[in-house]
Amino acid sequence: MVRHVLDRTNEQVIVSVRDPKRFDLDGVEVRRGDFARPETLDFRGVDKLLIVSALAPDSGTRIQMHKNAVAAAVQHGVGHIFYTSVTDADTSPIYVAEVHRATEEAVRATGVPFTFLRNGLYHENFVGLFSGEIVAVSTKDGRVASAPRDDLALAAAVALTTEGHENRVYELTGSTSWSFPELAGDRFRDVGDEDVDAAGSPFRLVDYFVAIRNGLFSEVRGDLEELIGRPSRPIAV
Ligand SMILES: NC(=O)c1ccc[n+]([C@@H]2O[C@H](COP(=O)([O-])OP(=O)(O)OC[C@H]3O[C@@H](n4cnc5c(N)ncnc54)[C@H](OP(=O)(O)O)[C@@H]3O)[C@@H](O)[C@H]2O)c1
Repeated sequence: MVRHVLDRTNEQVIVSVRDPKRFDLDGVEVRRGDFARPETLDFRGVDKLLIVSALAPDSGTRIQMHKNAVAAAVQHGVGHIFYTSVTDADTSPIYVAEVHRATEEAVRATGVPFTFLRNGLYHENFVGLFSGEIVAVSTKDGRVASAPRDDLALAAAVALTTEGHENRVYELTGSTSWSFPELAGDRFRDVGDEDVDAAGSPFRLVDYFVAIRNGLFSEVRGDLEELIGRPSRPIAV
């Protein structure tokens, strides 16, 4: 994402991460900051701030971490807050929406101009599921309008480096949708939620399968394509 920003602006770019040693990119000022430790957050001199949602063991901790970042933004006089949210954050029943809804509300409550980049699912969440001989999922023929992580990163960079995004909410999905039976062909196996092998998955896979089965991530929206100026790259398995 930062590379896309650097490609598009001559403005000073600052990143705030927990471990500056892990961030190795020329032309960027790196500050140390941890959302879990509000006293470490330093957004002084920042005009536009992108808060990338962070992970934590539970929703309450995630919400508090995000609220810490929002409070620091206000304290340091940030002019515009961008936030990576989830599709339909205000109405979606998927469990992660709780975090994004609460964060969006906290951002709106500040009165600072905002932009919500409501990311749909990444292709990268699913590619590995197609690597075996059998693709056993409980999604049935539910469709997924996922997008490559890098296209979503590009959209964020475009929004950060162009004008006219104040108080806008973007629903960022892929330009096309796919289904497991369609991509897996003969390898597709329709299994129950209890038979899903979620070993090694970094997120609650079954909850996403239920959501996909119920059509929550099926709708193709135009916002990603509009921001990046081309269709998103389709999934390849
Ligand atoms: N749409 C989807 O399908 C999907 C899939 C997976 C995740 N997500 C969500 O999107 C978020 C971003 O995903 P990503 O792929 O961009 O992740 P990423 O590349 O790991 O980026 C997360 C960034 O946040 C920083 N960070 C993490 N925890 C932090 C903390 N406590 N305090 C300060 N900075 C922190 C990380 O830096 P340091 O680690 O160096 O601090 C890193 O720069 C995830 O955290 C999750 O909420 C969405």
